[in-house]
Amino acid sequence: MSKFIINGRQPLGGQIKVGGAKNLALKIIPASLLSDQPIIIDNLPDIEDIKRSLEIIKSLGGLVDRQTDQCRIQTKNLATTIIPAELANKLRASIMFVGPILARMGQVSFPHPGGCVIGAGTRPIDLFLEGFRSFGAQIEFADGYYHLAAKQLSGANYFFTTISVTGTEALMMTAVLAAGQTVLENCAMEPEIVALADYLNSQGADISGAGTSTIIVNGVQSIGGGAFTVMPDRIETGTFALLAAASRCELLITDCFPDHISVLLNIFRKQGVNFERGDNWLKMLPSKNITAYSIKTHEYPGFPTDLQSPYTVLMTQAQGSSIVHETIYDRRLLFTDMLTQMGANIIMCDPHRVVINGPTPLHGRKLTSPDLRAGMAMVMAALIAEGKTEIDNIYQIERGYQQIAERLRAIGADIERVE
Ligand code: EPU
Repeated sequence: MSKFIINGRQPLGGQIKVGGAKNLALKIIPASLLSDQPIIIDNLPDIEDIKRSLEIIKSLGGLVDRQTDQCRIQTKNLATTIIPAELANKLRASIMFVGPILARMGQVSFPHPGGCVIGAGTRPIDLFLEGFRSFGAQIEFADGYYHLAAKQLSGANYFFTTISVTGTEALMMTAVLAAGQTVLENCAMEPEIVALADYLNSQGADISGAGTSTIIVNGVQSIGGGAFTVMPDRIETGTFALLAAASRCELLITDCFPDHISVLLNIFRKQGVNFERGDNWLKMLPSKNITAYSIKTHEYPGFPTDLQSPYTVLMTQAQGSSIVHETIYDRRLLFTDMLTQMGANIIMCDPHRVVINGPTPLHGRKLTSPDLRAGMAMVMAALIAEGKTEIDNIYQIERGYQQIAERLRAIGADIERVE
């Protein structure tokens, strides 16, 4: 198993470029199945989740031609409508293939998707199944696979009783080829949903309201292919900003959209974290005193759950007490136990809330990355900790952050990747 070895407290600084948004690329790849025309995707991040996603396209009979950060996908002739368990088990976002295959081919089979464990037990897919049923799909479960079939999907009215990002995207994509009008209510409003809708519209879909809580889709017979550039990853942007704040360094973060992390920048202003920004760059400046500030994770434009773990690391370095309240996932605060082992003063009130008393110096430890975001937070903690930290199970980190060791080394980190 590969691991990172990090010697902390090296002076950091310089410039770092943000990669393409994982959680957009993971939807654009399955969206290619809605059309028999090719799609060319630019700024595709080189991460494990994307590799698995492209393997799913190939397993269905699609053609994939990848050249560094560009990829051409052609799904004209599909050989099967079964999403194989060995790929679905590794990737929660495998569920994103279901709607497009169903809409285009009239049937699809898939196992319960895997991926990182950050919710209670297996992460549920009830909203997806209900949603597909509301389009007229028949659903059976046999031999470990869900089997969905519908000769012709018809437009649906669906209200999300829980706001779901992938749920919104899945039903929005399915509706593109369903006959008639679909109205989706209480939708998620993430920028990735807007970008996905814009792309589908540019290829002939008729979607309005993406980025608001009500999305209306008028079904069309077919859509085309085309070119798409993946926008910058807002979670990577926020993570680098939090690392710079915690290590008190000057760091220019380029190729990013600071508007997509407005909530974090507004909190920085209240805390005394210094920065300057433009439309597509963010310059973090050293801050002497950072004041503790409590947060509650929330759907966009609120505080993203995916930035909760690096924010918690920053709070171990801030003056005073703060509460971090994780409202989206049950297991996303368990990693704080590792921060405590590194010297942080953190009290877990219940599975959803911790109190952090700062500032406390951190010291290096042997750690195992529990999931993608907590794993990256461990890297961040190791970079500001005294001494050596070993982080195991870094597949979890490389699922979402491309060439992270090289990029951190380029800004001064002492980080080595060993097999
Ligand atoms: N939920 C249900 N039933 C469902 C689906 C979701 O109860 O059928 C619940 C979840 O258990 C959770 C809540 O709804 O409590 C919200 O989860 P959501 O469905 O919005 O999460 P997701 O769509 O599976 C996406 C991102 C996550 C990110 C969340 C929240 C992708 C591929 N994943 O997940 O990203 O944390 O939205 O913003 O877009 C990550 O990148 O590390 C990551 C986990």
